[in-house]
Amino acid sequence: MHTMPPAPQDTRLSELREVLPEESSVTADGVLSIGGVPVTTLAERYGTPLHVIDETGLRRQIRRFVDGLQRRWPNAEVLFASKSLPVVGMYRVAQEEGMSVDIAGGGELRLALAAGVAPERLHFHGNAKTDAELQMALDAGIGTIIVDNCDELDRLERLLTRPQKLLLRVIPGVDADTHASQATGGERSKFGLPMRQAHAAIERMRAHPFMEFEGVHLHIGSQILNTRQFAEAVEKISSAGTFDTYDVGGGLGVKYTYDEEAPSVEAYLDAIVAAARDHLPASARLMIEPGRSVVARAGITLYRVISVKRTGDVFVAVDGGMADQLDVALTHQRYEAVIADRLDEAWTERVQLVGRQCESGDLLVDGADFPAARVGDLVAMATTGAYAYTMANNYNGALKPAIVFVREGEARLVARRETYDDLLALHAPAAL
Ligand SMILES: Cc1ncc(COP(=O)(O)O)c(C=O)c1O
Repeated sequence: MHTMPPAPQDTRLSELREVLPEESSVTADGVLSIGGVPVTTLAERYGTPLHVIDETGLRRQIRRFVDGLQRRWPNAEVLFASKSLPVVGMYRVAQEEGMSVDIAGGGELRLALAAGVAPERLHFHGNAKTDAELQMALDAGIGTIIVDNCDELDRLERLLTRPQKLLLRVIPGVDADTHASQATGGERSKFGLPMRQAHAAIERMRAHPFMEFEGVHLHIGSQILNTRQFAEAVEKISSAGTFDTYDVGGGLGVKYTYDEEAPSVEAYLDAIVAAARDHLPASARLMIEPGRSVVARAGITLYRVISVKRTGDVFVAVDGGMADQLDVALTHQRYEAVIADRLDEAWTERVQLVGRQCESGDLLVDGADFPAARVGDLVAMATTGAYAYTMANNYNGALKPAIVFVREGEARLVARRETYDDLLALHAPAAL
């Protein structure tokens, strides 16, 4: 058992604000409030675990990207990388605030269409799109398909019956400084074609009567905190040739912990657009695809404390875990968490915030600073808006949590909690 660092005697409330949603406050009796709704009310009304999204802060963040890029490079388009939060209510907000949408599979296509996203504003990604998915996308009148490989070109040759806009994903050869599973732009990436193979694929598209090749796409990875790497990618992609469109992907990192720093949207856009001015044709269309940096900070996850065990460490166990917060196990992402209904108390104890799944890797926060935790406390885990809901799974029979959007004192259920009946509905009845 490792020795825990000394427990803090006070709180870090001012730093906490920087990782909580923008529209966060604390009530007179010490309860965290998101979008004007106390978390105690949300937990009572919708149960826990619960994902809560600050819709006002979310919309404001989308505008920072959309207006910020437009101001710097008028021939621009910002796509929401919907894999970060593929929820019908979210697709709708993205479209309302001026984003187009990137989807990466038939499921995300169905969700986006159900939200009323205009098909021509959809961009279809993926390194292994099936015939059936491509057909679904073509039937829907998809705006752009981002071709990953030559097998996909074979498929499109068979399936296309009318003109279709295409981009080609290329490997820029930029090893982003992030977790290995989130780096996607290095020479050995499974996504896209290396520059030396891209030219033949481009010729093939240009020669085909229905393939409207518009340009190239790259994405160097996710949770990238060094803006120079985005600039480097823009420079690298310029060597692919002169095209109408350059989509330089997503990947801007966010601040997850009190001690971490992340670039602002402004700094990120400055870096990308400066590189575009230096290396891309002035008339080109410039696209970006942020996901995590759009939704992460807008979200928290609420959990209820089920057990407090003082053995060697203090283990505070909650009613969720890696089944609804897979990133803690997959990429060892660090988060901050607080006891959300006692924010007026000093943080006196450093604890292991653990989940209820049967893995020791089910550690939500390795060293969270809490007042002495009690069964029934409400825990808020900060900055969980991206990639948590979508990576939820049924490990140990866990149920996918609900999501609520809160705004100006009102909460609305955007996706209901999975039920045991949902779980059972997938299975054939047991033979008697
Ligand atoms: C092609 C593509 N675009 C955009 C993104 C969004 O990345 P992020 O959520 O880090 O902004 C991803 C996710 O990794 C991606 O694969």
